[in-house]
Amino acid sequence: MYTFTPPFEAPTGSPIRELFKYLAQPGMISFAGGYPASDLFDRDGIEAAAARASKQTTRCLQYGPTDGLPVLKEELAKLMARRGTRCAPDDLMVTTGSQQGFDLLLRVLVSPGDVVLVEQPAYPATLQALKLQQANVVSLPVDHDGLDVDALAALLEAGTLAGQPRMLYTVPTFANPTGATLSLERRVALLRLAVRYRFLVVEDDPYGDLRFAGEPLPSLLALAADVPGARDWIVHFSSLSKIVAPGLRVGWTIAPAEILRRCVVAKQTVDLCSSPWTQAIAADYLADGALERHLPMIVAAYAEKCGALCDALETHMGRSIGFHRPGGGMFVWGRLAAGHDASAYLKACIASNVMFVPGVAFFRDNIDHASLRLSFAAPGVGDIETGVLRMKSALDKFAD
Ligand SMILES: Cc1ncc(COP(=O)(O)O)c(C=O)c1O
Repeated sequence: MYTFTPPFEAPTGSPIRELFKYLAQPGMISFAGGYPASDLFDRDGIEAAAARASKQTTRCLQYGPTDGLPVLKEELAKLMARRGTRCAPDDLMVTTGSQQGFDLLLRVLVSPGDVVLVEQPAYPATLQALKLQQANVVSLPVDHDGLDVDALAALLEAGTLAGQPRMLYTVPTFANPTGATLSLERRVALLRLAVRYRFLVVEDDPYGDLRFAGEPLPSLLALAADVPGARDWIVHFSSLSKIVAPGLRVGWTIAPAEILRRCVVAKQTVDLCSSPWTQAIAADYLADGALERHLPMIVAAYAEKCGALCDALETHMGRSIGFHRPGGGMFVWGRLAAGHDASAYLKACIASNVMFVPGVAFFRDNIDHASLRLSFAAPGVGDIETGVLRMKSALDKFAD
């Protein structure tokens, strides 16, 4: 009846959101969502910031600047400085979640058919956004140290891509879904390749502050200051979603001025501005120092949950699942030994009241059907072992 634009002729929704209906199953233990733990939100701190912010009626209730409230931009620049990157408030723009930042960037830089490089497995909303933008997506392999930069170098050297890549998207620190962190050596090598072959490195960094093991590594953005020319080739996204609350919908983009200016224009037609109300709350929360006070509690809780999940997997699933312990973030990436199909296994698990995301959701080609993603963030520590025991009994039945 209607004529839709090509990307929306037969669109598919998020495979993870499809799983939401099972969350309502009584007694379900979910390792599926990428949601932060609700009971770890700093409710008192956010409520206090909200109460203070809402007194600034004009700031909160009126439209705000498209690139974000100046007070919030200042606080975010200070936060970036604490993370090791010097940037001025005007080097960044506030977005409605970092997800919006990526969407705006694609509008500004990627035309249908343009080559975009992504690590695989990848965050599904990125794959979806690239598909809707009709990009020519080329997947790159990853291992426990993140993106395989040698494979990237070989690909660029071979000159077989269908065009000059516009960008490479990566989550280099505690990746979604693999939990992997790109080594320092690879970070430097990646930035050098970006300068040499003139493509943008798009660093998505919502999880970097959630480190509970190992030495901190500089973000690609921070490192770009030491690699000649690299700062021109880096776009950085971050977010308050995983460290404060996703309901605020506060993310930010740091990009070269020519790109940022165009993203601001793109945002004008998308939502005019992100909610000034939640921006004001976020600004007040950050200015109060509440993030630094509260974040260690979130990190400690995730450390405990991650340990509980990995210990339970080792104890109860033994060799039937292979995985690596992440040093932070929210995810453990597993692989069923014996090559079982994780989607079929998920059905057996849902019948046993436990769920996860089958790996297929994170691939666009060369799917590893035996892989799966487990998030330890949301379930309570007490439920984690029970959940793994359910996975074990579901596997015993399934493998029979
Ligand atoms: C890698 C990655 N990027 C971006 C997002 C979206 O974050 P935001 O809530 O800031 O839009 C997520 C959320 O799960 C994510 O895992």
